[in-house]
Amino acid sequence: MGHEILHVVGARPNFMKAAPVISALDQRHVPQRVVHTGQHYDPAMSDVFFVELGLPEPDVNLGVGSGSHARQTAALLTGLEDELTERRPAVAVVYGDVNSTLAAALVAAKLHVDVAHVEAGLRSFDPTMPEEINRRVTDSLSTLLFVTSPEGMAHLAREGADPSALYLVGNPMIDTLLANLDRFDPARITTRLRLPAEYAVSTLHRPANVDDPSAARAVVSALAEVAATLAVVVPLHPRGRAALRRAGLDDAAGVHVVDPLGYIEFLSLVRGARLVVTDSGGLQEETTVLDVPCLTLRPNTERPITVTHGTNRLVAAGEVAKQAAAILDGGVRFPTVRPPLWDGRAGARIADVIAGAVA
Ligand code: UD1
Repeated sequence: MGHEILHVVGARPNFMKAAPVISALDQRHVPQRVVHTGQHYDPAMSDVFFVELGLPEPDVNLGVGSGSHARQTAALLTGLEDELTERRPAVAVVYGDVNSTLAAALVAAKLHVDVAHVEAGLRSFDPTMPEEINRRVTDSLSTLLFVTSPEGMAHLAREGADPSALYLVGNPMIDTLLANLDRFDPARITTRLRLPAEYAVSTLHRPANVDDPSAARAVVSALAEVAATLAVVVPLHPRGRAALRRAGLDDAAGVHVVDPLGYIEFLSLVRGARLVVTDSGGLQEETTVLDVPCLTLRPNTERPITVTHGTNRLVAAGEVAKQAAAILDGGVRFPTVRPPLWDGRAGARIADVIAGAVA
């Protein structure tokens, strides 16, 4: 085995988690290699994040692209096996819960390469979500488990994880947010998108909300109801774009559909929003730290700390308008305790452990 740390990233939510870890390992002079799987390939879903977050250009892009779960995962496995066989890294670092994460963990474990999972231990207990399967399998194969919140430590302990592999380190996605806070300028993005000063932001892409036409119609009518009193901006993920359009998203008065935004513009928009309606995982955490009310269109969350400590509420489509009205009336109180260790130092803690493991 070499001494190199090999990071595997591939989809949009990986990039803001990897940036602080790579930078902290760089400061410790640890040799690193960045492999982009190519799961996300549109410039607006990938390149813009590398530029804005100061991520090093990937050493290699496997160009795996889109496909069914089996086809995409198969392409990820073969591409990553070639890469890891050639490089024999000391540790493969994988992020979050996307298909690239699962594939990298499986390939590394079978090649006897240690797997470090950043954002380990999250559980929605909802087996219908592909991400829940990815998380469980990845955690079971990992030798270093970097956990963002205390309930994640409890889940892993209950599943029999080796206690010496568990590290409660905080949240590297929040490191990135705090490091860039000064760059989030709501006025600038609202001017560019010609939005009113008061608005809501919505992002939707989960299969449960966009694949089934009746679910997509329910979501669109919820946004249309909110938009009757407050403009709703929807930076639209490519997944589900067609389904939400078929469900009438473009025709709803007060709904502004825009292309996916880069990191700085998107967080600028969120920072200035009265509220957020989403099915994203990361946005539940970002709104908690930015103190922006968040209505999550899901029956469960793997991030319950955003409900107990933050601004997050789980809602069904039929409840969105009422909940939004209550927030706008000022009738909803949220706790304002920052989750423990969400302090901008998670990347440094992770880098200390990894650097120690390969020293
Ligand atoms: C993936 C993750 C999801 C995460 C999301 C964030 C999995 C199983 N899902 O979902 O957990 O919340 O990323 O964005 O890994 N597409 C493009 N351009 C791209 C990438 C995708 O047009 O650059 C379109 C393609 O039609 C593709 C579809 O989006 O088939 C889905 O892409 P995929 O990577 O399979 O999953 P996401 O829905 O993006």
